[in-house]
Amino acid sequence: MKIVHTIAELRAQLRGQLRTAFVPTMGNLHEGHLSLMRVAAKHGDPVVASIFVNRLQFAPHEDFDRYPRTLQDDAKKLEAEGVYVVFAPDEKELYPEPQEFRVRPPENLGDILEGEFRPGFFVGVTTVVLKLFQCVSPQVAVFGKKDYQQQMIIRRMCQQFALPTSIVSAPTIRDEDGLALSSRNQYLSVKEREEAPWLYRLLTQTANALSQMRADHSLSLDAIAELEKQAANELRHRGWAPDYFAIRRQLDLKPLEQIDLTGGLQPPPEPQMVVLAAARLGQTRLIDNLEVTFA
Ligand code: PAF
Repeated sequence: MKIVHTIAELRAQLRGQLRTAFVPTMGNLHEGHLSLMRVAAKHGDPVVASIFVNRLQFAPHEDFDRYPRTLQDDAKKLEAEGVYVVFAPDEKELYPEPQEFRVRPPENLGDILEGEFRPGFFVGVTTVVLKLFQCVSPQVAVFGKKDYQQQMIIRRMCQQFALPTSIVSAPTIRDEDGLALSSRNQYLSVKEREEAPWLYRLLTQTANALSQMRADHSLSLDAIAELEKQAANELRHRGWAPDYFAIRRQLDLKPLEQIDLTGGLQPPPEPQMVVLAAARLGQTRLIDNLEVTFA
């Protein structure tokens, strides 16, 4: 496995490769990231990973400087996964001058949910992902469904700019108690780690309630609003500070409308929903989601 730090070296390594599968990361890799490498290997060859902590997607109060840089450890893990090249540029390489051109996702997708609570986040993500795609020229790129809105925005970006990269979404990897793997889990205290699986439990309870209501024909917009409210209240009651707990359409993350429940917008079987949540437990902000697909 080669570790390259410049765009020129990367392009030289990948010259002539037409089926590259790419996994962009910010490093500090855990089993969730490694599962993305395995998905990538199923969709292309060679597999290329990038490690770059992207300042553009951090707000001033967020933990850019504190973000763990663990290149040596990460490289060992990637080598064991059979990754061909790791692209690990420094900031001067990727942003040799202030990055004044930016990619702005549409407000109706980029400024809701995560975008509402982390203004500018998706502009930072799409800008660096477009730039990384220009460096790697991948045929396929893999993103985890844990960051549901991110993978959706990147897929739309590829469609709208006619980029020759297909986006593959990979399932969320969870600990045995259901907690989605995330670099942020390492910041949880022992007590917080015990509490943390409740986020997924509440997503599951909500998804089950939706399925039940769908089955007994009691699904309504009021019932959906009530489920969101109950779950957010339960989180507050347990000591969390929720940013959102939202039941949305899988298609575009819009709130459900009457027409979704009575038929029309999504092809049958409909409606397909996703439950998304973000909440702080102590100092740590966790996000998770669960798709609800009705049979
Ligand atoms: O999901 C991440 O780790 C980052 O947002 C990404 C896609 C690597 C862009 O910096």
